[in-house]
Amino acid sequence: MTHKNPLALITGSSSGIGIELARVFAEEGFDLVLVARRQAELETLAEELRHAHDIDCTVLPCDLTAPGAISELLNSLPKRPLDVLVNNAGVMQMGGFASDKLERQLQQIHLNVLALTELTHRCLPPMLKRGKGRIVNLASVAAFQPVPYLSVYAATKAYVLSFTEGLSEELKGTGVSCTAVCPGFTDTPMIRGKKHTDKKPNNLPMAVVSDPAFVAREAFSAAMARDVIHVPGMIYKVMSTLSQLPPRFMVRSIAGMFGRRNAKRK
Ligand SMILES: NC(=O)c1ccc[n+]([C@@H]2O[C@H](COP(=O)([O-])OP(=O)(O)OC[C@H]3O[C@@H](n4cnc5c(N)ncnc54)[C@H](OP(=O)(O)O)[C@@H]3O)[C@@H](O)[C@H]2O)c1
Repeated sequence: MTHKNPLALITGSSSGIGIELARVFAEEGFDLVLVARRQAELETLAEELRHAHDIDCTVLPCDLTAPGAISELLNSLPKRPLDVLVNNAGVMQMGGFASDKLERQLQQIHLNVLALTELTHRCLPPMLKRGKGRIVNLASVAAFQPVPYLSVYAATKAYVLSFTEGLSEELKGTGVSCTAVCPGFTDTPMIRGKKHTDKKPNNLPMAVVSDPAFVAREAFSAAMARDVIHVPGMIYKVMSTLSQLPPRFMVRSIAGMFGRRNAKRK
């Protein structure tokens, strides 16, 4: 059976950037597979997108860190080729490493690194066989330098960036591309906190906070252009470039100074 629309799987599509990614892909005529733990949120979004864009939308609730969950997820996929995999699901645990619970830090590595790697590894062979496909990985500007008090989170995003760059070289000439999207602060529950209702997320100046719909549109364009690294927004393009110029000891000392000051304020 042939399908008129290409198919994209988006993880973490129950919230934040993931919801907006689903909206952009739907607007652009993709059928979708929506994945996250919260089924009700996914079903509501799927209903919205089916009505607005006349697309097929499959909801597959899944904890990507549960044993065997990714195999089960992939076995439940619609029986048709996947054109785009968007590894967007991620968590951020803020705080001092030694004082935080080990379990929370390991969970972060499991989702941000292991699940992304496993999904990519399992989705790639059919894409390579067809000579066609796109993988989009949500990294962060935190990938470009160490971030004290977000040490594990930043390290997971450095992994995503490095992995994507390495893999994109391996994929040259195959018809399959891999894109790392590196947003700065974006106005989602990740930085507001689930119950946070203030106008300003996390007391940040609004000038440095991106709109998730903007980030999602930029991510879509970068994936279609087969860019390897994309940083949405001029402020963050400049910041991520500047942060790579000084010697590393200087960058981490400055990051440490800001990190300690912020940690004291909390
Ligand atoms: N917001 C920012 O400032 C910012 C900046 C740079 C990069 N990013 C990156 O962008 C991506 C999206 O972040 P966001 O800001 O949109 O965060 P968010 O609003 O907190 O959304 C995170 C998504 O991940 C899903 N998720 C969490 N744990 C999961 C699990 N165990 N299994 C399956 N899904 C899980 C959540 O769904 P359920 O709870 O329903 O499972 C949710 O849909 C992340 O990779 C993040 O690191 C965000």
